[in-house]
Amino acid sequence: MPDCVLGVPAELKPFTLQETSYDLVILGYQAWFLSPGIPTNSILNHPSVQAVLKNTPVITITGARNMWISAMERIKKY
Ligand SMILES: Cc1cc2nc3c(=O)[nH]c(=O)nc-3n(C[C@H](O)[C@H](O)[C@H](O)COP(=O)(O)O)c2cc1C
Repeated sequence: MPDCVLGVPAELKPFTLQETSYDLVILGYQAWFLSPGIPTNSILNHPSVQAVLKNTPVITITGARNMWISAMERIKKY
């Protein structure tokens, strides 16, 4: 819970993205403890994902309970 709220990313297994740029990214994520969930936070902090998302339109979609707005505000900053 502290890592989630503080936005501490987890180490991810190595991966490669299929493309170097995208017309649109649709990001599905969960809110945990009013914050972006650790998997989402970890992906959004990954340098190769950040490089691809820069200057790319992103639509977010979340399946949450009814406490999602502060998580969304943090996702918007990422
Ligand atoms: C540890 C944890 C914390 C969560 N915290 C929130 C929250 O703060 N606000 C919210 O709306 N939903 C919260 N949820 C619900 C998730 O956003 C999601 O809706 C729920 O986990 C259903 O998805 P799943 O079936 O893939 O687990 C939480 C879920 C988990 C597992």
